[in-house]
Amino acid sequence: MLETLYEYYSTQGLRPTYAGFGGDAELSKYAELRKNVFHRLMLPPVVFAGKRLLEFGPDTGENSLVFANWGARLTLVEPNPEAHPYIRGYFSKFGLDACLEEVVAASLLEYSAPHKFDVIDAEGFIYTIQPTSTWVKKLSECLERDGFLIISHMELYGGFIELLTKAIYQRVARDPAYGAGIETAKKLFLTKWDSIQHTRKIESWFMDVIENPFVRRKYFIDPVELLKDMHAGGFRLYSSWPNYRDALAMQWIKAPLSPEHEMLSSISFIEQSRLSHLLGCKCFLPGIGGELSDALASLVSITDELIDEWSPDACVSARACVDGIDGQIRRLCAATGDGSLGAASSVLAMIRSALQLMGMNDTGQLVEFCRTDKSFISSWGMPNHHAIFQRMA
Ligand SMILES: C[S@@+](CC[C@H](N)C(=O)[O-])C[C@H]1O[C@@H](n2cnc3c(N)ncnc32)[C@H](O)[C@@H]1O
Repeated sequence: MLETLYEYYSTQGLRPTYAGFGGDAELSKYAELRKNVFHRLMLPPVVFAGKRLLEFGPDTGENSLVFANWGARLTLVEPNPEAHPYIRGYFSKFGLDACLEEVVAASLLEYSAPHKFDVIDAEGFIYTIQPTSTWVKKLSECLERDGFLIISHMELYGGFIELLTKAIYQRVARDPAYGAGIETAKKLFLTKWDSIQHTRKIESWFMDVIENPFVRRKYFIDPVELLKDMHAGGFRLYSSWPNYRDALAMQWIKAPLSPEHEMLSSISFIEQSRLSHLLGCKCFLPGIGGELSDALASLVSITDELIDEWSPDACVSARACVDGIDGQIRRLCAATGDGSLGAASSVLAMIRSALQLMGMNDTGQLVEFCRTDKSFISSWGMPNHHAIFQRMA
């Protein structure tokens, strides 16, 4: 069993984010995408100018190039040494060598910082390091007071659709008529994959999601627990995407602001947003009771178990969770922003159908469903959450 995500990438010969920029036009296009990410996170590029930035897990360095273009001085810590020549090649190709202070072959927990940094970036892997408190402590040691920490993580409910696609793949791959491998994945998911604007091939997504042993419930982060761990480690939430802060709060702007109170109101907001995260569409709950949270938690757990072992009974139990959730959102009058439950209901109906087909013996129908069902093709959930924290005194 592989113990780290970087060992998995290394054994697969996978450079998960390599984009092979040929020239300035491609880099500029990518920089625009990153600008949008930071616009959503309310941290404009000018913040990076002249800052000492420590980036963990840069892979081949596409994001690092953009940080350098925005004026940051970079220390890159990438445990997979096969990515280092790509990083160095990129920096000299784009005339940014002067911004690259150091490239270190170490994992986050092994790294020993020579000084504190103004900004730390750790996108795309942090959820694989457990327990959370270990990396929180390490990052707190490396960051200046009031410095920014940017992370992204696989989220517990937002990752549900990824778990469902993995369970569907395993169900079909176990049928000797199909078998395991990329050809079966293409039969199932190529239509879905080609329906979005992507920068990589389905082969890369197959290894990075469908086969990746770290894309599992046990690694997914519950943002409620994350906020508690970050608060205990001396951080406060600055921004996130999707939004964790209570966007509906009505307080005098000059009223005292306690980090603990802020954390508690964010926790309620997250709990009310769980279904939006799972479905990948707006479905804000006016409150969250035990029955609904239990049904959501069970749906995620049962689907995760279906990846390891197919069981018609488990498919029936998961469908019962979907029915329970559907009934609750109607009763609670969830806020979807369009005055109806249209999008949320259609994603729930799709999940129900997928589970029903998974419980049957005819995998051909399941394959056909994945290739043709409009809701299955367009549903991706909200697996990757981004958050920015600030280190308090
Ligand atoms: C999915 S890639 C993300 C690349 C880039 N940060 C991005 O978000 O586009 C994850 C990267 O994190 C690295 N990584 C995995 N585990 C790590 C760890 N414990 N410490 C530092 N880097 C790690 C991997 O080698 C890989 O390069």
